[in-house]
Amino acid sequence: ATARGLRVGSCFAWGAPGADRGSFANPSYAALLKRDCGILVGENEMKWQAIRPSATQFDFTRFDAMMDWATANTLPVRGHNLLWHQPKWMPAWEENYDFGSSPSREAERLLVEHVNTVCRRYGARIPSYDVVNEAVTPADGTLYQTALSRALGGPEATLDLAFHTARAAAPGAQLVYNDYMSWEPGNANHRAGVLRLLEGFKRRGVPVDALGVQSHLVTQGMDARTAIAAIEGEWRRFLDAVTAMGYKLVITELDVRDNNLPADIAPRDTAVADFTRGYLDVMFAYPALRDVLLWGMTDRYSWIEGFEPRKDGAKRRPCPYDADFAPKPMRAAIAAAI
Ligand code: XIL
Repeated sequence: ATARGLRVGSCFAWGAPGADRGSFANPSYAALLKRDCGILVGENEMKWQAIRPSATQFDFTRFDAMMDWATANTLPVRGHNLLWHQPKWMPAWEENYDFGSSPSREAERLLVEHVNTVCRRYGARIPSYDVVNEAVTPADGTLYQTALSRALGGPEATLDLAFHTARAAAPGAQLVYNDYMSWEPGNANHRAGVLRLLEGFKRRGVPVDALGVQSHLVTQGMDARTAIAAIEGEWRRFLDAVTAMGYKLVITELDVRDNNLPADIAPRDTAVADFTRGYLDVMFAYPALRDVLLWGMTDRYSWIEGFEPRKDGAKRRPCPYDADFAPKPMRAAIAAAI
């Protein structure tokens, strides 16, 4: 990857208290990150819910520890994220907040304070931020509203302010709008909404450098070549439109949901690897793509198991390494695609 001017990396996570506390606490995972990764991202530890327990408090205990470890190992860390623009991902206090007699001024103050506090704390150690995460409603492509955006005067004004503030507070950082885009066929509204948003940013002169393509892939239960062929045309038209506007691309959260595949491990892993390879071949055709981050290196800590378990009860296998840190065909597929 380095020879091609690319970077491959992964998320890592503090995890919940308990015996097997999370990827960050596991020395085997640390060794894997050091061996395979050129860039990292905190899975949850920079989100508002994690660092902002109330309007007047910040708590960086966990993220600082992770940053310190990454810095000691000379690994840059992406910032994820400065604003997850959906009510359910903002802290409860924000959705119930009393914005007082000048709501827009108070909302602006809260958001600017948030972005400034994070960006100034980490400086150049964070070369790239998901400034705004998932602001587009998949069903109809409109923008979500939060209590913050309602007070501030609408979602556009809110997202624009987040980007302008980030540019000023972290002038050297790449600023990203990050979304999952419902990349399967038949979900065109979501992508159309993302395109409208990106066009609006350009029109209004908002400093957005790249589109974060989350890439939570879902196998379609057919052979990988057929599955990729089914999505490729629509997907390329979307990426062509994005890159024609001058946006760079970042794969921010790659993993694979092995839907509609039999539980047998060997053929399932092969199908997941083939699908990953087919997808990356499409993506690497774009020189605007430089960084590829997995949403976890090992099945052991993948969020997919909790988010959408398999219907047949078999454990999910979404990542390049299995739960015991043995490499799977998906790892070889990523290497081959590079
Ligand atoms: C997920 C984490 O992996 C989970 O641990 C958490 O419970 C919810 O968030 N899109 C994103 C990521 O932008 O922040 C999400 O991460 C996965 C989907």
